[in-house]
Amino acid sequence: MMKTKLTELLAIKYPIIQGAMAWVSESVLTSAVSNAGGAGVIATGGREVSWVGEEIKKTKELTNRPFGVNMMLKDKHIDELIEVICEEKVAFVTMGAGNPIPYFDRLKSAGIKVIPVIPNVKLAKRVEENGADAIVIEGMEAGGHIGVLTTMALMTNIIPRVKIPVIAAGGISDGRGVAAALVMGAAGVQMGSRFLLTTECQAHQKMKDSIIKATDTDSEVTGFSRGHAVRGLRNKFTQEYLEQERSGAVQEILDKLATGTNRLGALVGDIENGSVQVGQSLNVLNEIKSVSEVVEELIEQTKTALNTASVLLVE
Ligand SMILES: Cc1cc2nc3c(=O)[nH]c(=O)nc-3n(C[C@H](O)[C@H](O)[C@H](O)COP(=O)(O)O)c2cc1C
Repeated sequence: MMKTKLTELLAIKYPIIQGAMAWVSESVLTSAVSNAGGAGVIATGGREVSWVGEEIKKTKELTNRPFGVNMMLKDKHIDELIEVICEEKVAFVTMGAGNPIPYFDRLKSAGIKVIPVIPNVKLAKRVEENGADAIVIEGMEAGGHIGVLTTMALMTNIIPRVKIPVIAAGGISDGRGVAAALVMGAAGVQMGSRFLLTTECQAHQKMKDSIIKATDTDSEVTGFSRGHAVRGLRNKFTQEYLEQERSGAVQEILDKLATGTNRLGALVGDIENGSVQVGQSLNVLNEIKSVSEVVEELIEQTKTALNTASVLLVE
């Protein structure tokens, strides 16, 4: 058991959220993380609203612990999506890629906690003033869509300036990272990459194997110059995209190149032409384990790191 503002807010045992992962985090992974004492999150990007409703129901059958749903705010079905989420009354919603404030009232009046993903101090304060229950700050070490600041800079800049719980994400792949975030004043962490390497994760075996093989400098960011930065493993797709990006290709061509690549990498297992989204803390991602083993190991490592840190204090 650990006690932080996040464990209290969500009534969970450990301050660990499994970040939404498009095409990957569904009922099996989400419920496994919640059953292990953290909180799982269902990703909705690219999915039909009916799929989301079914996955929420399946997750409820697999766990009676709290779990969340992630909404991409630019989703063209956003209103129907919110309707389903409110009807099903999931514990919390994380949301990014757009202005979250207009959606707060509807979700909060259904008893759902709202947790936007925030890229800077200004927005952190604005969502706090408008009633956000917590925020996720996600550094550019993370897998998937990223901003421009690192996790360390975000924690340094934002945590002292808000009162609501702050969840740190990006490059946290072991318990030392969890401990570091807690010492920085975060109320918990959100991790994606670490949960890709679990038996419950539905990502293709080839994606998992390529992550096991990859080390520190093997990820790459596409789309940075256009404000659509995405981190994934360097492969044929990223090379092609970057060549086009550097040679000044119009956005339409880049969008066409990227369309369907997340699904191709994660579900079809085409790790050359598809996108293999993963964060930078790759050297500790060596083994596929069950979610409960991962969570228990993370907590043991966190405790060791926190105890070790206190030993540094001498009179
Ligand atoms: C394969 C993959 C897919 C992701 N998809 C989403 C998504 O759909 N929505 C979202 O808000 N974040 C998404 N993320 C970000 C994660 O939720 C999380 O914040 C991130 O993985 C944290 O960094 P880490 O990978 O270093 O642990 C994705 C990350 C990965 C690795």
